[in-house]
Amino acid sequence: MLSQNPIGIFDSGAGGLSVFKEIVISLPLENCVYYADTRNCPYGVKKQEEVIAFSENIVEFLLEKNVKLIVVACNTATGAAIDHLRKKYKINFVGMEPAVKPAAINTKTGNIGILATQGTFQSRLFRETSKKWAENRNIMIQVGEGLVELVEQGKHNSTEAEIILRKYIIPMLANNVDQLVLGCTHYSFFLPLIEKIVEGKAEIIDPAPAIARRVSDLLHSGDLLNPSSKKGKHTFYVNGDPSVFSALLPLIHAEASEIIPIK
Ligand code: DGL
Repeated sequence: MLSQNPIGIFDSGAGGLSVFKEIVISLPLENCVYYADTRNCPYGVKKQEEVIAFSENIVEFLLEKNVKLIVVACNTATGAAIDHLRKKYKINFVGMEPAVKPAAINTKTGNIGILATQGTFQSRLFRETSKKWAENRNIMIQVGEGLVELVEQGKHNSTEAEIILRKYIIPMLANNVDQLVLGCTHYSFFLPLIEKIVEGKAEIIDPAPAIARRVSDLLHSGDLLNPSSKKGKHTFYVNGDPSVFSALLPLIHAEASEIIPIK
């Protein structure tokens, strides 16, 4: 039965765990299969065609696991590949993009800061969303160079990370930014550091809970909710070193049912 099939989730690495965490909170009975493409991480500096090819491989893998819906828990892969994936595969996709709309609605100063990867900022999706929702707002964009790598190395709470984050965020605050959008799923791991730097001067927008709501709505409306009364099973496939990945799982309070290294 399709409703008992797992939800597929993927990212270039551990970033999508921030989305996975919210999905588990909203939908604890769902089985999930998470694919971390750590071998090809980071995506943000890669060419669009490459990210499309990585995403296609992962989608094929997840389809073999009989997933009922795929969450592209990566802003960069969504920007680069989601149009292509939607054209090529019949399955329902939920993508991620920097939360420009809520930031544009909530800002009082008219200044929005967005931290994301180079690939995300270069995507058509980002250009169009910014034009649609924030044309009369002042957007400060900042490529989070080096940040994804720090998360993948388990250094999300390091002095090194704090120095880089300060360099990126302080100029935004100095420019009266009152909405700071986390436009890469890896950056959620820096939330304690970011909150320390921001000191309440800006609202920090992490789109992960909204993505989980979208997944929940789609499963409800498609009559695809798992009818089981048992907690869902979670399987993680990692194609690089799985040790950091397993070290990050407790941070999102997830016990992995299974971490499977793949070649
Ligand atoms: N976590 C991803 C994102 O949301 C990808 C980061 C990367 O691999 O560069 O953009």
